[in-house]
Parts: sequence; structure tokens; C-alpha cells
Amino acid sequence: MNISRRNFIGRSAAAVATGIVAPSLLNGQKIFASPAAANDKIGVALIGCRGMGWSDLSDFLIHPEIECLALCDIDENVLNSRLAEVEKWKNKKPAAYGDYRKMLERNDIDAVIIGTPDHWHCLQMVDACSAGKDVYVEKPIANSIAECDAMVAAAEKYNRVVQVGQQQRSGDHWHEMKKYINSGKLGKIAQVDVWANFNYANILHAVPDSSAPAGVDFDRWLGPAPLRTFNEKRFHGLWRMFWDYGGGLMTDWGVHLLDMALWGMNVDGMPNRVFASGGNFAYPDNIAETFGDLSVIYEFDDFTIQWNNLAGTETGPYGRNYGLAFKGTNGTLVANREGWEVLPDQNKIESVSVQPDYEDHKKHVAQFIRCMKDRDMHTACPIENGSLCAKYAHLGNISARIKSELVYDDGKKKFNNSSANKFIRPTYRKPWIFPTL
Ligand SMILES: NC(=O)c1ccc[n+]([C@@H]2O[C@H](COP(=O)([O-])OP(=O)(O)OC[C@H]3O[C@@H](n4cnc5c(N)ncnc54)[C@H](O)[C@@H]3O)[C@@H](O)[C@H]2O)c1
Repeated sequence: MNISRRNFIGRSAAAVATGIVAPSLLNGQKIFASPAAANDKIGVALIGCRGMGWSDLSDFLIHPEIECLALCDIDENVLNSRLAEVEKWKNKKPAAYGDYRKMLERNDIDAVIIGTPDHWHCLQMVDACSAGKDVYVEKPIANSIAECDAMVAAAEKYNRVVQVGQQQRSGDHWHEMKKYINSGKLGKIAQVDVWANFNYANILHAVPDSSAPAGVDFDRWLGPAPLRTFNEKRFHGLWRMFWDYGGGLMTDWGVHLLDMALWGMNVDGMPNRVFASGGNFAYPDNIAETFGDLSVIYEFDDFTIQWNNLAGTETGPYGRNYGLAFKGTNGTLVANREGWEVLPDQNKIESVSVQPDYEDHKKHVAQFIRCMKDRDMHTACPIENGSLCAKYAHLGNISARIKSELVYDDGKKKFNNSSANKFIRPTYRKPWIFPTL
């Protein structure tokens, strides 16, 4: 029986709801790489060990059934220190890899965590799916619109359980926020403001190119991105501010926060129009290519979502330097990771204040592990949602880059603008090949 992943998501949700498990749904798909894993250990490997990948793995390792079998990084300094940390924690050293493709050849790895820079996510995720691994992939799922589509297709084609690292989807206070918004108590919501004002994206001073540090395979770090010489200001962590590898605050924080805006407003498709303006106005000497200052309006039939990121000012509306404000006729709901509150308009509704438990990430990882065991494709943030949110972020950046209002047709995979179309799909540097599915 050939059951598509999208159908499977619907059916598995129904099966869960009715308590009926349909084993035939699993026919023909690889369940775990190692036969004992469903009842016993789950073999996990990490690609990209420095920052968020390591945080992700750490929340996997608190589960006794998780066994970290392998780590992969192009920087031996990072790799060796993470290997030592896992060994100290678990009394067992994982295998070390510089080439993730070699690691994926192992049959004992059930799931792969991808914590590399954004320009690598697509190839690594597609390859992991085709090798029969389940995948926990960091956000934004990809550095372009076409890569998002390839990743959705890969999850479907290979029937893999995929969780995107948009952990707010597993946060209780965010679920309560959505419930409150959807109750209608706020009245008619005409506007959702979303903002992120962080300094880290803004103060990049130029330094000369140099040779890569010892132990770094810089060609493999670049991977499908254009060839260039090493520069420390474009490397670990800082790559976010250069278009070949990332999309600035718009894709970094934007994906997390737009996810909550779209979820709250029940949006599952593209906006009618997007228009944006951006630059590096506050810090003109900033060498970042991405926008330190950016404003984007996403237009829908009867409301707008507005994104802002601002350099040099770590303050913001409602005393929060990042967050969302759902503006209804009865009041405004203001939210971020530190909680949410309802600010009534002229006492039309009651004030509400909800605190978080700061357990979003742990719960997100745990939910993925549960889905892997149950072969439940209904993860808290499936690849389809990661794709939606990443596309919104890319639309904002593209509109600002070409200084034009845009309409994107997600069915035809085209903008109403030929200059914008050039940003849909990156040209991969040989020998890397854009995945065809
Ligand atoms: N979910 C969240 O809250 C959250 C928070 C921070 C970062 N992130 C995401 O996590 C990802 C990583 O961000 P970061 O800040 O940790 O970046 P980073 O630069 O600190 O770490 C990336 C690591 O990947 C390694 N790497 C690069 N190319 C590789 C390859 N081909 N094979 C193996 N290793 C490779 C690098 O050497 C480095 O160790 C990004 O996509 C980012 O958006 C998510």
C-alpha cells in the first residue's frame, strides 16, 4: 500500500484519536534502523555540534533509551570537545565523523539531529531521510524557498518522522495563548505585531580574510555555498548575517515568532501580498549583508501581520525587546517566551497573565522521541510547518532585497516578479547537487 505522508499524518492522528493502530499503514516503510530500537535503545547522531545542535542533543541524552552513537562536525576542535563531553556524561565515546554522508551509512543510527548553519540543512536532511533516518532539524529549515519544498518532499517520499526545532510549538503557555486567541475573547483581531530587537546581529566590524583555523575543513563548511576564502566574521555563529548561509534576524528569530503569529491566526498558506523595507541604518559600518533594521507587512483578507527587527536598541513595545501583540477590538494579547498577558481595552474583557514553565525545548525533544517510537508523523512541528514559517521569513527578506511588493504563488512556485524568482532556488556549488525528489 502506498500511503503518502500527508495522508498518513491525517490517518495517524485519527488512529490516535480512536485508539486504533493500523499496522498496515506501516507496511513497506523502514521503522527503526536497528530492529531492537522500538523497545530498547534509540541510536542518535548529531551533525553540527557547536551551538544549538549540542543543546538539542543534551535534551535527547536525558532520556535513558537514547544512545549517542556518533557526532559529526567539520571543526575538529568542536568535535573533540563535544566527544569528550558525551564520554564524560555517558561513559561511552561516540564515533567521530567529518563527513556526514559516511555517518549516514551506519545502520544503527535511528535519528539524526541537524544543527548546522542554514545553508546545509536541506542536503543533510534529505540525505538522512533517504538513508532511512528520522530527523530533528533546526529552524529555519532551509535558506531558500525551493529547499523548503525539497525537504517536505523528502519527508513524504521516505516516510520519516521529522521534528523542526521550533520548540515554542511544545510550550504549554503558547498552547494556552492559542486557545485564548481562538476563543474569540479578544474580539476582531485586525493586526498582529511581531518584533525582535537584538544587538548581536548588528555589530560586525570587518577583519581581513585569513586561512581557516587548524582542524577546520572550511570547504566542507561552505558545502553548496559559493567558494570564498575564510573570514572569521562569517564563520561560527556569525554566518547568520550573510545571505549565502542565513537570513539575519528575519530567519533567526522571525521563524520562531512568525510561527506563533501564523498559528494564532490559523494561517496555513501564503499571504495575499508582502512588502518590506530594510537596511543597516543604525550601524552603517556593520559588514552584515542581512538587514539590521527591517519592516515587513504580510497582508491577508482581513488582517495584517507586521514584522520588525531593529538594530542597536534592545528595548521594544510593552517592555519586551521581542514578542508578539495580537491586537483585538476588546484588548491586546502580548506574548513572548517569558509569558503572555491580556491588556483589556476599556475593561471590555478581563486581564489575564500566564507564566511559562521554560520547558518548551525538553518537551519538544520528548515529543519527537515519542513520535519516533509510535511511528506517529504528527510531530509538534512537522516539516510542513517548518516550511511555511521559513517561507514567510524568506518572503520578507526577498521583498526588502528587491525593494518591491510581492505576491508568491506557492502552487506555481513563482513570484509575480522575475527579480524575486531568482531568489527561490540557490545554485549549488559543485560537487553538491540540489536534491531532486
Ligand atoms: N531552536 C532554536 O532556538 C535555535 C537557537 C539557535 C540556533 N538555532 C539554529 O541552529 C542551527 C545552528 O546554529 P548555531 O548557532 O548552533 O551555529 P554554529 O555556527 O554555532 O554551529 C554550527 C556547527 O555546525 C558545524 N558544521 C558546519 N557545516 C557542517 C557540515 N557540513 N558537517 C558537519 N558540521 C558542520 C560547524 O562547524 C559548527 O560546529 C541554525 O540553523 C540556527 O538557526 C536554533
